[in-house]
Amino acid sequence: MAFNNLIILDHPLIQQKLFYLRDKRTNNFNFRTMLNEISGLMVYEITRNLPVKPNKVQTPLEVTTAYILAKPVTLIPILRAGLAMCDGILSLIPNARVGHLGLYRDKESLQPVEYYKKFPPDFEKTEIIVIDPMLATGGSASAALDFVKKEGGEHLTFVCLVASPEGVTLLEEHHPDVPIYTAALDRQLNDHGYILPGLGDAGDRIYGTE
Ligand code: PRP
Ligand code: URA
Repeated sequence: MAFNNLIILDHPLIQQKLFYLRDKRTNNFNFRTMLNEISGLMVYEITRNLPVKPNKVQTPLEVTTAYILAKPVTLIPILRAGLAMCDGILSLIPNARVGHLGLYRDKESLQPVEYYKKFPPDFEKTEIIVIDPMLATGGSASAALDFVKKEGGEHLTFVCLVASPEGVTLLEEHHPDVPIYTAALDRQLNDHGYILPGLGDAGDRIYGTE
């Protein structure tokens, strides 16, 4: 299946950590630890092409020009599960600001329901990374990108751990300008909107609420 905007991060360390995240024997603590570790590895790849700008710096020996990010970065995790990827990303981009977007998926309709939104001031001018481990029907990710664009956000990237073909199709249709990074493109959704083979309910596995 070919998708225009999908980038699968097939680095061996990313794939190995995904193996443990899929394993149903991985407990809540190890799941959270692994999720942060894989998120750091993924963001290293995702930020590869961020624009940089020259900046003068005084070394102990002389003045030279070095490079810094041209624009600040804003992370927007989709609560709850996206939040558990943030620390791993912040360990590599400590100056990034974080906006929060609370969405849950209604169990019957599978439609996203908003319950919280707080974005940093002037975030719309920054590089924005929207974060959620699971791209299932794509409803939550698409709604999140709608919210961010409505507030003026332009330079957007979406990152997830596991994507379904259905979710990628929906996101590409509604947000053709947004690159989608994932560690895996799985087979399909089941009748309850869960990704197969997937890793189960990410929020429950992170927070022990199953
Ligand atoms: C999960 C997941 C995504 C959403 C994906 O969250 O973290 O946000 O489902 O499904 P979709 O692509 O079909 O919209 P959930 O609604 O279970 O909330 P939680 O993070 O609070 O557990
Ligand atoms: N949300 C999850 O946490 N897992 C899925 O497989 C689908 C939606």
